[in-house]
Amino acid sequence: MTNSGVLLQMTDISKSFPGVKALDKVSITVRSGTVHALMGENGAGKSTLMKCAFGLYHPDEGEIKIDGKSVTLENPRKAMDCGISMIHQELQPIRTQNVMENIWVGRYPYKKTGPIHWVDEKKMYDDTKALLDELHIHDIDPYTSMGELSVSHCQLLEIARSVSYGAKVIIMDEPTSSLTDAESELLFAIISKLTAAGTAIIYISHRIEEILRLADEVTILRDGELVGCWPASELDGNLIVNRMVGREMTTRFPPKNRKIGEEYLQIENFTSADPSSFKDVNFHVRRGEVLGVGGLVGAQRTELMETVFGLRPLASGTIKIGGKQVEIKNAYDAITNGIALLTEERRATGIFPLLDITENTVVAKEAKEPEYFHMKNGLLDSKKRNNETQDYVEKLSVKTPTLKTPIINLSGGNQQKVLLARWMLTSPDILILDEPTRGIDVGAKFEIYTLIEQLVEQGKCVIMISSEMPELLGMCDRIMVMCEGKLTGILDGETATEEQIMLLASSYNK
Ligand SMILES: Nc1ncnc2c1ncn2[C@@H]1O[C@H](COP(=O)(O)OP(=O)(O)OP(=O)(O)O)[C@@H](O)[C@H]1O
Ligand SMILES: [Mg+2]
Repeated sequence: MTNSGVLLQMTDISKSFPGVKALDKVSITVRSGTVHALMGENGAGKSTLMKCAFGLYHPDEGEIKIDGKSVTLENPRKAMDCGISMIHQELQPIRTQNVMENIWVGRYPYKKTGPIHWVDEKKMYDDTKALLDELHIHDIDPYTSMGELSVSHCQLLEIARSVSYGAKVIIMDEPTSSLTDAESELLFAIISKLTAAGTAIIYISHRIEEILRLADEVTILRDGELVGCWPASELDGNLIVNRMVGREMTTRFPPKNRKIGEEYLQIENFTSADPSSFKDVNFHVRRGEVLGVGGLVGAQRTELMETVFGLRPLASGTIKIGGKQVEIKNAYDAITNGIALLTEERRATGIFPLLDITENTVVAKEAKEPEYFHMKNGLLDSKKRNNETQDYVEKLSVKTPTLKTPIINLSGGNQQKVLLARWMLTSPDILILDEPTRGIDVGAKFEIYTLIEQLVEQGKCVIMISSEMPELLGMCDRIMVMCEGKLTGILDGETATEEQIMLLASSYNK
């Protein structure tokens, strides 16, 4: 196959869901040995298009050709037989399986002793080893149980499994959104190996730097329509952003007008009940301040903030709010003390998938102030619930057909915006955000930053855990950095640099 060989061609694909036309005559041509980026704002239709290519959704109209032959992809099994594979955004490995069982599930090799068939463990081990070697993944043993692996390793194994099926086209939907920089590098190295061998990668990401570095071609969607397809060499960051949002975007952060007040939240000698987690952490947040929290995976940033929010037990330490010591034993205590926490894992701890947008938005407010949405006669004031939800839907440009739509039907980025709305509605004094813009497009990031800015200008405290350096540097007044459960330094947001953060975040600094 030559480098220009077309592996996958989707022509005039349309797909509607109740109340929304997710794709309107979208076409994409994917060539062998290339990385084809698929870009667009939240809800533009990227995942939907790829689910059509993987047989998870069936297009209402349009044609899919693989290797020049027209195909109907009834289900993912058929897509895999045709050489298409998809690495899912939210991985759900069976935790009790080991690595090799996970790769060969449904396809175990058997050997025969007399009348009995046994799983041929040795062959399975050797095949797995060979497969991992081929991809230069040397640090995973085939016997390791899936439950012990990090997200990035699970992702690498998904890729290994795709390769074992002989996939010619591998779709990656926001693969680096939960990876560290080093883990992303490993993924990029594997992507180059795969493309060098003729595989095509369809790569969805909101990270423009990553796209410019990896992609050969870039297809951009907007509101379910094709904007166009360009060789990456003809694009730069601004062109991509302008074509995605359909207007000029000149700044990435809103103007700041902060007045920083007295210390409001004080955390003293915080040590986790879990001995492998954080130890002896001290910090404070002042009114009207954004405190950033930087660090690598394993730094225990999430664990620390979940403990502040009462989700994890403390061995020792105190919390003071407004100078007064408070007891926070659970999320309810936290919420009634004016703390809100937007968690990093929206699938696991955030959304109520089958409930609609309104229910998902008002739930925390109702926990905090049970009377708030009741009328005088005690009945639920559904108009008020809807109005306040609608208000945030507009402020955050949440793309949803109606307020009655189950949240699971929203695109990933739009689900995240609803969760943010949930916490904003409680008007917290202290808002803790754990990777708030993960999976969120550039335009929507700006809207979220603007809301954060408004909060701090009202004198509230914001704590923001982020792995995106530009976001830490662009939004925070101070940046505290953690490494392996220890606070290694607090930097001034005005003068801090990426290098300083990295240095404090890495263990040789200790
Ligand atoms: N199963 C579904 N039922 C109803 N609507 C859906 C369903 N799946 C997707 N949609 C709608 O289709 C549109 C496109 O969603 P899609 O998930 O493809 O966006 P996306 O480009 O992947 O966005 P993101 O960057 O946020 O992941 C959205 O308006 C979404 O709400
Ligand atoms: Mg998506």
